[in-house]
Amino acid sequence: MKIAIFASGNGSNFQAIVEAVKEGKLDSEISFLFCDNPQAFVVERAQQLDIPTIVFSPKDFCSKEVYEAELLQRLTEKNIQLVVLAGYMRIIGSTLLETFTNRIINIHPSLLPQFPGCYGIKEAFEAGVKETGVTIHYVDDGVDTGPIIKQEKVLVDQNDTLETLATKIHQIEHRLYPEVLAEIINQNEGAVTG
Ligand code: GRF
Repeated sequence: MKIAIFASGNGSNFQAIVEAVKEGKLDSEISFLFCDNPQAFVVERAQQLDIPTIVFSPKDFCSKEVYEAELLQRLTEKNIQLVVLAGYMRIIGSTLLETFTNRIINIHPSLLPQFPGCYGIKEAFEAGVKETGVTIHYVDDGVDTGPIIKQEKVLVDQNDTLETLATKIHQIEHRLYPEVLAEIINQNEGAVTG
């Protein structure tokens, strides 16, 4: 299975997935990282991990459609089968969704449909919930609304701060994302050979 990972920032989930491939836990090829922000730390991680990187910004294009058409071409020419969003801070538009229906996956740091958007951990913490978690889902045209593939809960302790809660959530993400990708890949390969 050929995978492209899209990320905009830190890239710890990107690194966890690449390491799972290198450790033989995920039977796939990370063909490239796409990053929409040249300053993002994930670009450095990709260089260190020896993953080809494509970097451009929507600002370089006259419209979102033209930006996504360029991305689609890059995906097509590399025969990418699955797009994995790992902290990619943009809404996927119809140009990509139509071609990659049910083949774009996202991870979100809350128990969706609670706390969608950019501040899932902070909003859950400030709401004082007793439990929050991680959701992995297919991407549709909404914000964190697509069909849920897997969720894992995290208990919020009385002693948790926003930072300790964020650390617990990221630890789960780094294990769960490669595990779920491995399940999806195995199911797909079963469907092809079975
Ligand atoms: C993660 O918490 C992920 O759930 C969310 O964005 C964050 C990305 O973190 N979509 P990183 O860039 O992988 O470190």
